Amino acid sequence: MVSLTADMSPLHPDRNLALELVRATEAAAIRSVPFIGRGKKELADGAAVDAMRAFLTTVNFDGVIVIGEGEKDNAPMLFNGEKVGTGRGPQCDIAVDPIDGTTLTAEGRNNALSVLAVADRGAMLDASSVFYMDKLVTGPAGVGVVDIRLPIAENINRLAKALGKPVEELVVSVLNRPRHAKLIDEIREAGAGTRLMSDGDVAGGINAARHNARTDMCVGVGGSPEGIVTACAIKALGGHIQGRLWPRDDDEHQRGVDAGLKLDDHVYEADELVKGDNTIFVATGVTSGELVKGVRREGDYVYTESVVLRGASGTLRRISSEHLTSKWL
Ligand code: FBP
Repeated sequence: MVSLTADMSPLHPDRNLALELVRATEAAAIRSVPFIGRGKKELADGAAVDAMRAFLTTVNFDGVIVIGEGEKDNAPMLFNGEKVGTGRGPQCDIAVDPIDGTTLTAEGRNNALSVLAVADRGAMLDASSVFYMDKLVTGPAGVGVVDIRLPIAENINRLAKALGKPVEELVVSVLNRPRHAKLIDEIREAGAGTRLMSDGDVAGGINAARHNARTDMCVGVGGSPEGIVTACAIKALGGHIQGRLWPRDDDEHQRGVDAGLKLDDHVYEADELVKGDNTIFVATGVTSGELVKGVRREGDYVYTESVVLRGASGTLRRISSEHLTSKWL
């Protein structure tokens, strides 16, 4: 049952914070406009990082970036461990992905998002020392039904049964990578369809968990940071997410162990990826996709579409905004 008063506690990220955060993802998306389809992913990302950071400094919270642009030495801004916000208000963990899908943006292809997620301080797993995570995401029907330890065919059959539809109607999204060749074959052999993503498994995961979307399950190896960000959204959708770290070599495995991460066959359940339900996830479309429309400049106006998902209330809101071009670009 949703508590109407719980989020008034000054200790937790509250519902008003969500709107502040949308300003930051809107700004990042708008500032990436000159770079969409221009082949320069670093410039697009840099513009989005600058814009997001400028907005985050004005927000009333005491935020620490847990999932950021990397270590301080490589990332001048929004680096892991950086403090953001005014220092007043709730103490929060922050995950930023100013553009998830930098290549999509540079190539002008669908599905790039600007993303921010917030949770209580200490809630987010810092998995940054291992770059990749194997993930399994579904909507609520998959909770207690699918399990990343099972063969994919078994998960497909179980989910189809839980959804009450034939396996042939099930659609599974996977990043289109050579490492997934066998997985893709197995999905098709099990009778389900695939939706191969060229990038952007945050949108892929959310779409798999969303009510009435065109995919039912998102599987495979993508970025670990993206796994944590996705988990913040899944809390609001009541879906299923599990992750298993996927080190590329022995050195990375060791770095993960040194950082206190659980490797090998350990499966991180949703609550280990992000503790509790006090999560806020916001995303603004950079380029259009199934989740949101991309940012669009038309004469005097720039149009953005965003989603806001709150774990505490289980709400997905859409925010459409019109911005005066002259104030921005
Ligand atoms: P970037 O925007 O940082 O390029 O990330 C895009 C992305 O597709 C993520 O959504 C995904 O988790 C990750 O890259 C997959 O990594 P890789 O491209 O190395 O397979």
